[in-house]
Amino acid sequence: MPDFAFAKPALPRTGALVLLIAEGEAPWQAADTAAGGGIVRALKAAEFTGKKGQTCTILAPAMPGGTISRIVAVGLGKAGEVTRLGAEEAGGAAAALLAREEHATVAAQGLTPGLAASVATGMALRAWRFDRYRTTEKETDKPKLAKVTVLTEDLAAARAAHAPMAAVVDGVFLTRELVAEPPNVLYPAEMAERCKKLEALGVKVEILGPKEMKKLGFGALLGVAQGSAHEPRMVVMQWHGAGGRGKGAAAPLAFVGKGVTFDTGGISIKPAAGMEDMKWDMAGAGAVVGLMAALAGRKAKVNAVGLVGLVENMPSGTAQRPGDVVKTASGQTVEVINTDAEGRLVLADVLWYCQERFEPRFMIDLATLTGAMIIALGHEYAGFFSNDDTLSKQLHEAGEATGEKMWRMPLGEAYDKQIKSDIADMKNVGGRPGGAITAAQFVQRFVNKKTWAHLDIAGMAWSSKDAPCVPKGATAFGVRLLDRLVADHYEK
Ligand code: BES
Ligand code: MN
Ligand code: ZN
Repeated sequence: MPDFAFAKPALPRTGALVLLIAEGEAPWQAADTAAGGGIVRALKAAEFTGKKGQTCTILAPAMPGGTISRIVAVGLGKAGEVTRLGAEEAGGAAAALLAREEHATVAAQGLTPGLAASVATGMALRAWRFDRYRTTEKETDKPKLAKVTVLTEDLAAARAAHAPMAAVVDGVFLTRELVAEPPNVLYPAEMAERCKKLEALGVKVEILGPKEMKKLGFGALLGVAQGSAHEPRMVVMQWHGAGGRGKGAAAPLAFVGKGVTFDTGGISIKPAAGMEDMKWDMAGAGAVVGLMAALAGRKAKVNAVGLVGLVENMPSGTAQRPGDVVKTASGQTVEVINTDAEGRLVLADVLWYCQERFEPRFMIDLATLTGAMIIALGHEYAGFFSNDDTLSKQLHEAGEATGEKMWRMPLGEAYDKQIKSDIADMKNVGGRPGGAITAAQFVQRFVNKKTWAHLDIAGMAWSSKDAPCVPKGATAFGVRLLDRLVADHYEK
C-alpha cells in the first residue's frame, strides 16, 4: 500500500503525474507549458473530454528538465459538481493505471482540500491487494506504487480531512482481509482473535465460547455449530466515543453480523460447484468488525456496539438434522427444515442478546443471508428491510453517497405466514417465493419493537470484477455505508 502525502502545487520532475480534469477544462497549465502544449494535443487526439470515469495515459511525455514516465489524465465529470464519491472514483481509476510506477504526483487542480483527500482515499481503496499466499509471483507482476503526493494549496485542511478517511480505509482493509482469508485459516476462534486487535484502538472486546453461549440459551446458534470441529464464538465489541459509561451513557447504536466462516450447507449440503465462495459467508460479521475499527480509528463521537456470531456450518455425525427443533435465546422454538438456512439461526440468538443487554438506539444487522437476494437485485444493490422509515431513508441516502447502494424491500404479515411450523413456533425456511423476504421475516421475529434494519448483502460481499474503488474480490460492503450513516446522523 502506498504512502500518501500532501504538498503545495509544484511540477514534479520524475515519476508519474496524474491530472484530474473536469469536462471542458484545460489540463494543469504549468504541466502543459512544460510539455510544449503536448498534453493538450495528446488529450485532443485521444478525444479525452473529462467525462466522468474517462482515462488517458500519455507515456514518456517530452518535458525538458525532467523524466516524467507517464501522465494519467482522469475525467472528473462536470466542473463544480464533483462529489466526495466522484473524487474517490477518479482516484481509484488513476490508481488502477499506476501499478508499474513507484511514485505518483496527483494534481488535484480546482478541487477543495476535502476532495483532494477523497482522491487519496479512492487511490488507497483501489490499490489494496491480498497477496499473503502468493509466494512465487514475479517482481514484474507485483504493483510497485510506494508513494503518492497529492498537490493542494491548503495542506492543513487536506491533512485534517484525510485523517478520518484513512481510519475508514483501514477499517475497509481489515474487513477485506477477513473476508478474503481462506476458511482453513479463518475459523471462528481465529476470527475472534483478530477482533481482539481492536483493543489497540480503544475498543472493548469480549469473546464468548460455547459454554457461555449455552448458559445464555443460544440453542439456534449452537445447533448450527454442532457439526463442526471448530468451536463457535460470539464477539462483543464496544466503542464509547460519546463520553460517559454505565447508566448515564447514551444508548449505543448496535451492529450485528452473520459470521459463518464456512457454509457447506450442513446436512442439507450445497452442490460442489462454487462452494468455495462460502468462505465469505462471514462478510456481514467482517463488515461489523471493520466498521468498529473505522469508528474507533477516527474517534467517532458516538457509542456503538458490534456483535458477531461466528460458526462453521458443516455436515458430520454430530451435525443438526432437518427436522430438529431448537430453542432460541428468546425462548421461541424453531423447526430446522433446511440446515443451509443457518444464517438466520445465528442472527436470531445474537440479535436477541444484543437488544436485551444493550437496549440500543437501533439495531442494524448485516448478513450474506440468501441467494434469493441476488436473484432479486443482482450485484448492484443490497436489499434491506426495516421497521422504520427514517432509518430507511438514511440508509438509502448513505448508500447513494458512498456508492454502496441500498434498495428497500417489503415486510408483511402474509410473508410471515410462510414460516409457520406445524410443530414449533416457526420453521427456518418459507419456500422459494420471496426467499429473501421470508428470511427477513424470520430475523424480525427476534427484534422487539426496536428500530431495526436488516441488510442482505449476499450479492455485494464479493465482486467478480473491478470497480473504481473496489478491486475484484472482497468488497467490505457496509463499512463505508454505515460509517457515513453514523457520521451524518448519529454523532454529537
Ligand atoms: N450463505 C447462504 C446464502 C448465499 C448464497 C450467500 C449464495 C451468497 C451467495 C445462506 O446460508 C443459504 O444457504 N441460504 C439458502 C437459504 C435456503 C436454504 C432457504 C439459499 O439462499 O439458498
Ligand atoms: Mn447456508
Ligand atoms: Zn450461509
